[in-house]
Amino acid sequence: MASAQPSPEQLADRYRRILAQLEELFAGYGDAACDDIARMATIAALLHHKMPHFFWTGFYRLQGGNLVVGPYQGPLACAVLPPPAGVCWAGIQQKESIIVPDVHAYAGHVACDERSRSEIVIPVREPAGNVVGVLDVDSDRPDAFTRVDREGLEAIVALVHC
Ligand code: SME
Repeated sequence: MASAQPSPEQLADRYRRILAQLEELFAGYGDAACDDIARMATIAALLHHKMPHFFWTGFYRLQGGNLVVGPYQGPLACAVLPPPAGVCWAGIQQKESIIVPDVHAYAGHVACDERSRSEIVIPVREPAGNVVGVLDVDSDRPDAFTRVDREGLEAIVALVHC
């Protein structure tokens, strides 16, 4: 049975607590403090296990003109997303977060798993400001993501590079 969806206030509070936990974890990484892969792996694991509406949670990184899968949690996903189709590439090109309430109504959506119903994509920036990848979250629930998710995830994704 699916877990009950938290209220917007409860969800925002949960994002705040995850952000604080991540900051504390990264502060203890020692020499690996600024390892972006270690940070992505930790972010994906924590988010995926704390958020009941997340079905697939992970990163795609720009590598040689493609988006290549990075650290993730959830079912097996597409390893390579060639341009320009899909929500992840739209996030790269528009350089802003995208919420797709119904993936079946999104032209060009790349279905890595038929159970995905809605999706949110957050661009990942390096310190100089260039977009170098995305955080992608799929839900098996329709219309699962709101402004609260966007704001919470944007704050968390800003921790990837230091
Ligand atoms: N749906 C994405 C592809 C990645 S999977 O959802 C994990 C897209 O349309 O870009």
